[in-house]
Amino acid sequence: MDQKSKEALDESARTILKQNDRGGYTIPTKDLYPFQWNWDSSLVALGLSTFDLDRAWTELETLLSAQWDNGMVPHIVFWKDDEGYFPGPGEWGAQRTPPTSGITQPPVAATVARRLFAHPGNPDARRAVRLVETLDRWHQWFADARDPNGTGLVAIIHPWESGRDNLPDWDVPLSIVDTSGVGEYRRRDTEHVDASQRPQKADYDRYMALVQFGRDNAWDTDVIAHHSPFWVADVGMNAILRRAETDLAWLADAVGKPLIAARATARARQLEKGFERLWSEKLGGYVSLDLKTNQQASDLSAGSWLAFYAGSVHPARAEQMMQLLAKWQEKVRYSVPSFDPTNPLFDDIRYWRGPVWAIINWMISEGLTRNGYVQAADRIRTDTRALIADTGFFEYFSPLTAQGGGGDFFSWTASMWLSWATPLPDEIA
Ligand code: DGY
Repeated sequence: MDQKSKEALDESARTILKQNDRGGYTIPTKDLYPFQWNWDSSLVALGLSTFDLDRAWTELETLLSAQWDNGMVPHIVFWKDDEGYFPGPGEWGAQRTPPTSGITQPPVAATVARRLFAHPGNPDARRAVRLVETLDRWHQWFADARDPNGTGLVAIIHPWESGRDNLPDWDVPLSIVDTSGVGEYRRRDTEHVDASQRPQKADYDRYMALVQFGRDNAWDTDVIAHHSPFWVADVGMNAILRRAETDLAWLADAVGKPLIAARATARARQLEKGFERLWSEKLGGYVSLDLKTNQQASDLSAGSWLAFYAGSVHPARAEQMMQLLAKWQEKVRYSVPSFDPTNPLFDDIRYWRGPVWAIINWMISEGLTRNGYVQAADRIRTDTRALIADTGFFEYFSPLTAQGGGGDFFSWTASMWLSWATPLPDEIA
């Protein structure tokens, strides 16, 4: 890529982030997602930090200001009304000001906060201290509410908590969810995006049944831990939390909070132990585990490679996983597809059942670099660059054709461009 094209794309990415700024927080994209989303905001802070470090800290602070008294940081914060999205505050019934959803999302915030702190633009240590305390309470909530028996694996209670909403991993655990009481509702997502790129009605009925279950039980964590129809250890969520705990420990040490650092380190060790149960000898990779039935998911997904992002992977396993990644890459033009492209359930343009996501690519690539697979990491970065440069800043992309899917002018894709995928000086032709 030449300098001019790079600069034009950098400028477009910055414009997207500015246009999606709603004052202290950034929406993922207008119409489809008009509020503050948890992991979107955290990942967007990385892009913001490339041109406005102060605004990047604010993004995290605004998100974490919506923390619940029990420590949970919700997956959506409804700062302003918008009729264009469903389910809204009434369906969640969370009884909070500002209104929020009742579930959480992958906790990437600590990993991002560590990066902001290490930024050459002179960090404000007091800001970091406040965040460290909030993040510690959120992470402790994961341990208490989602792993009450201390097994080292945290559960999700809704596919939306994984952030990878309609991944085939959830098909079996979701199949027992009773949808008979769900009633009529009007989806808004398919009014903004072609239905072929979104979850199907049967999935949505189950999503709504799980929302209603939480709301009807006032989001009581004990009741949910014992009776939730959906209680699954997502490989992605567990990998991201493990990584977040080690980054929180680092940050807490850096700002003089040794007790928080020790707690985060202890939780990280516990998660590392639990992660062993996600290894599938049969598949040669890490997979999600249905904690109600003790059944592992039958297929690998892009989340399997987040094991590298979580920490170090035993070399023999790492080699096996890298061979599988190479097999996937033979099947697609752009890596990494969100689901196994050799599997009949693979669907190249339907949300999390095949498409490539820039944010997952960043995490996988980051993890591969840390585990010594620098070339493989670079291939993922250049694939991401090509998708964005050729197609635009879409929510996700077909790994076969590069077609953009879901929302356009998407904040986290713009952020990944600025903070990771844009060419470095020695990569400019
Ligand atoms: C949606 O509405 O599709 C969101 O992904 C839920 O977080």
